[in-house]
Amino acid sequence: SQGAAIDTSPITLTRFLLEEQRKLPQATGDFTALMNAVQTAVKAVSSAVRKAGIHKLYGISGVTNVTGDEQKKLDVLANDLFINMFKSSFLTCLLVSEENDEAIIVDSEHKGKYMVVFDPLDGSSNIDCLVSIGTIFGIYRKDGGGDAKESDVLLPGNKLVAAGYALYGSATMIVLSTGNGVHTFMLDPAIGEFLLTEKNLKIKPRGKIYSLNEGYEASWDKPTQEYIKSKKYPENGKPYAARYIGSMVADVHRTLLYGGIFMYPATKEAPKGKLRLLYECNPMAFIVEQAGGMATTGKQRVLDIQPEKIHERSPIYMGSPEDVQDVLDSFAKHK
Ligand code: AHM
Ligand code: MG
Repeated sequence: SQGAAIDTSPITLTRFLLEEQRKLPQATGDFTALMNAVQTAVKAVSSAVRKAGIHKLYGISGVTNVTGDEQKKLDVLANDLFINMFKSSFLTCLLVSEENDEAIIVDSEHKGKYMVVFDPLDGSSNIDCLVSIGTIFGIYRKDGGGDAKESDVLLPGNKLVAAGYALYGSATMIVLSTGNGVHTFMLDPAIGEFLLTEKNLKIKPRGKIYSLNEGYEASWDKPTQEYIKSKKYPENGKPYAARYIGSMVADVHRTLLYGGIFMYPATKEAPKGKLRLLYECNPMAFIVEQAGGMATTGKQRVLDIQPEKIHERSPIYMGSPEDVQDVLDSFAKHK
């Protein structure tokens, strides 16, 4: 035996993008290069996430480790990595990160045509207990000349050129759409490459799972309360199963693969919900729609919202089209 077979012609994420790029006569290769920056950052974050457990086991987490080196918190490290990889790609002019209050304007020496919105490490409450976390990103092209300013990125999600996420789960995966379906790529640690695992991923028309933080039921709006009740106590058929990881990337990824609905509704305390429109809701809504699903606030398609501030929030219901339609019906009933 020769041991594990090695694929001598693997379809890596870069190869996949190069082939896509060949189909577009006007393509420059810039997008592929930008995605290489993303891939490098994801690999580095993945490696850091895997080691975080070991650091804990040996009791060296915190401000300094045994050798006296400064330890960066994982979310700070992830943010620094993405910012540095984007800037050094010479392809971005403006960056919006969940970790930075203001948009980062890339200096003229390094600037390029793309604007990137991202959440470097989402699901922060799950880091210390080793539960899945993720990175979310959305990519816009800046139109017109002149220096980029914060208002340039106040664009609805329907203007995204591409969006995706990385899931640091039992394996590391990148899920990506450039507006031409959704494709998944799993990190093969043996060669350090993301390999195509599924082309044109499609979501089920209806699922059997609902996913939200049920602890806040008392402060949901009526349509959400009634919708969930109808899934727990159906007039006919079986009740839905409940699943909630508390990491948006992991909860949405499961929804894409198994079907069903993920939501973060408005509450009395948080009338716009918790999740951020630019770098949490929009990229995930873009992916779900590209997979044949729907994403709504209950009143409006998420991707059609005109943002007013870079860190604004939005309620969100997303997933299998028939399940999201049930939510919309519940909202229509209570108008
Ligand atoms: P974070 O950006 O601080 O990590 O918060 C975002 C996360 C999402 O991943 C998840 O869907 C949600 O917060 C969970 O919130 P809650 O604990 O209120 O259910
Ligand atoms: Mg977040």
